[in-house]
Amino acid sequence: MGLRMKFNLAMGFTFLAGLLIAGLLSYRLTQREAVREVLQQASIMAGQAAVISDYTAREIAPLLAEQSREQFLPQSVPFWAAHTNFSALQKLFPDYSVRMPALNPTNPADRPTDWQAEIIALFRGNPALQEHISQRASPNGPILSISRPIRVEDRACLECHSTPQAAPAAMVDLYGPSNGFGWEMGETVGAQIISVPMQVALQRAAGTFRTVMLGLGAVFLLMTVLLNLLLHLAVVRRVRRISTAANEVSLGDMAAPELPVSGRDEIASLTESFNRMRRSFANAMRLLEP
Ligand code: HEC
Repeated sequence: MGLRMKFNLAMGFTFLAGLLIAGLLSYRLTQREAVREVLQQASIMAGQAAVISDYTAREIAPLLAEQSREQFLPQSVPFWAAHTNFSALQKLFPDYSVRMPALNPTNPADRPTDWQAEIIALFRGNPALQEHISQRASPNGPILSISRPIRVEDRACLECHSTPQAAPAAMVDLYGPSNGFGWEMGETVGAQIISVPMQVALQRAAGTFRTVMLGLGAVFLLMTVLLNLLLHLAVVRRVRRISTAANEVSLGDMAAPELPVSGRDEIASLTESFNRMRRSFANAMRLLEP
């Protein structure tokens, strides 16, 4: 096996190992970054939902309290406000959603789908669980959901969610007496589920990963070309020249001129030694001649 082959094999092997390690690391990093980005978006949406609910409870509900006695105005219900806002947002960004499904909802539109019911069941089974992150597939790529339990922690909730008799009559007129009642203090009645599509973040992660890998490949290619060129000019070509000259001397051909010595590296000193050896050899031969 030639020197060049040995060098290229060693370099190829090192590069493959390096590429594998760098690939694994950058893949994991870019994926983690994508998830972090999506979680960040979800937490902004959670903040918005909380702010809308709070605003409705503090500023809208007192204004509508009087009118709600005659005709129930759901505009004063914090959950209704959040729900309405995010439904409108969903028209612009179909895969983003903030839902507040309940097992026994006041508004039938808040009935949970199968996967939402599973999340609610999980929270009901683990009262200490405060957050659950899950992923599901959709035709537009994976969707990440962050869910938090909705628990009845305030007696005020029971005014509208315990019995139809306790609830404002106008509300019962609007929503009917059969759903959204019977909730109890401390009960986990539903969950706030925020869903954010991962497709864009994943595509960006894949783009970054591809750029890193292409960059590494280009660096390796450049290194291979440069090293091969250097190996050829600085080692292989000069060693071959010495080897040809040595062959000629061994066959008794002393006519060839001395090898040119260029540079001050190991091969140059080998060339010098060879030239000196050939001179000594020629002298010795001359002494032996009759
Ligand atoms: C003034 C009455 C009223 C009060 C007080 C009230 N809610 Fe509601 N709640 C409603 C109505 C009406 C809806 C349905 C809104 C809609 O149409 O989206 C609702 C919806 C909900 C929903 C969405 C699921 C569903 O039932 O449709 C949850 C969860 C919820 N409320 C929890 C609570 C909690 C927790 C509290 C106490 C902090 C509370 N509510 C206080 C009237 C009330």
